[in-house]
Amino acid sequence: MGAALTTAARDTQLSAAFTVAYDYAVHFTRDALDPANAVLAQAFAGDGVARVLVVIDSGVLAHHGDLPQRLRAYAAHHADRLALAGEPLVLPGGEEAKQDPAHAQAVLDAINARGIDRHAYVLGIGGGAVLDAAGYGAAVAHRGVRMVRMPTTVLAQNDAGIGVKNGINAYGKKNFLGAFAPPVAVVNDELFLTTLSDADWRAGTSEAVKVALLKDAAFFGELERRAPALLARDLEAMAELVQRCAALHVAHITGAGDPFELGSSRPLDFGHWSGHKLEQLSATRLRHGEAVAIGIALDSTYAQLAGLLPVGAWRRVLALFDALGLPVTAPELSDPRLLDGLGEFREHLGGRLTVTLIEGIGAGLEVHEIDHDLMRLAITRLGEAAASGGAPTIADGAAISS
Ligand SMILES: NC(=O)c1ccc[n+]([C@@H]2O[C@H](COP(=O)([O-])OP(=O)(O)OC[C@H]3O[C@@H](n4cnc5c(N)ncnc54)[C@H](O)[C@@H]3O)[C@@H](O)[C@H]2O)c1
Ligand SMILES: [Zn+2]
Repeated sequence: MGAALTTAARDTQLSAAFTVAYDYAVHFTRDALDPANAVLAQAFAGDGVARVLVVIDSGVLAHHGDLPQRLRAYAAHHADRLALAGEPLVLPGGEEAKQDPAHAQAVLDAINARGIDRHAYVLGIGGGAVLDAAGYGAAVAHRGVRMVRMPTTVLAQNDAGIGVKNGINAYGKKNFLGAFAPPVAVVNDELFLTTLSDADWRAGTSEAVKVALLKDAAFFGELERRAPALLARDLEAMAELVQRCAALHVAHITGAGDPFELGSSRPLDFGHWSGHKLEQLSATRLRHGEAVAIGIALDSTYAQLAGLLPVGAWRRVLALFDALGLPVTAPELSDPRLLDGLGEFREHLGGRLTVTLIEGIGAGLEVHEIDHDLMRLAITRLGEAAASGGAPTIADGAAISS
């Protein structure tokens, strides 16, 4: 018998503390697949030629039918950096990509069939939903395959596609399955935005209103000033909005001290407890961005009724959504199940209920209790304000013009 076996210390511990550093670039460019544009090729960092599985949003492909050819030509021109691992995998665009687990499974199947290892890449090209589903597949395959994202909607370029999260829906809940998995790089190409439907063009502006309300009063003023140009589909105005909104999101993720949301608060999720519930109650008829606009309008109304937000600021919030062509009400607001969204929101983060409200333009604050009766009154007041102020409502089955 060896002496070592009898001398093991009892009640001892090893320290396993370490940090992992992340560093990725969010690029803003124009015509990223022009072979003369090296931004995308350079995104495939590392030694040697990167093998790349491309996952494309069907809605993008419908408007950019030459995308597979352009990708082939681009890869041929940059053959020293990347090689395509077969034809692109196409996922259905929109929330369907996250609703049916078969689509994330298709990403896993392709990763397996094409031998994508941890030194190879998934390149996701699409809206937030397809990027979330493809990102989830990439994050769990081999415990994490590298991902480069090319977001193609306003919302994906200014929020969904630039952060550290992915996920799909399960058990009737948004993002129930998912992972924190920062990308290797993000390449935002503004030309993709030109083919969005009007409704998808507008929907992404709600996340800009959100961060402006929470953090940047000057940006809010700029959105008020630029609203007519944004509504008229001025690409330059939208590119500015996207960059500024993305910068505020990235600054929060990198600087606020909780990128993987270990605490109980998610300070950027203003308007999202009801937004997520509205998406679900409307069976995804409401776009994420539209549901968030309604959620922000609702929580602003609640904050005003609670004496936190001055009435003038509340009016500016509703007026800006009106000017941007975004809804502030929907029939689902009167569904009694809406308030279940508060419990589900708390459960998703864990710990104590923490809801972000505002106490002024550019001034977020957190509360830990929501008075349900006051919230019900806010729903009524918001409906009245929308009816009298002409704020657009999304009626059943008919989204704002697209
Ligand atoms: N991971 C995150 O941190 C995060 C953050 C915010 C939102 N999200 C998620 O993002 C999703 C919403 O994303 P979204 O607003 O980008 O919408 P979306 O992905 O649902 O896409 C909207 C529609 O636009 C189409 N489309 C995409 N690009 C196009 C283009 N260039 N031209 C024409 N059509 C195009 C799609 O096919 C789809 O029909 C939600 O599921 C939301 O939960 C994720
Ligand atoms: Zn959002």
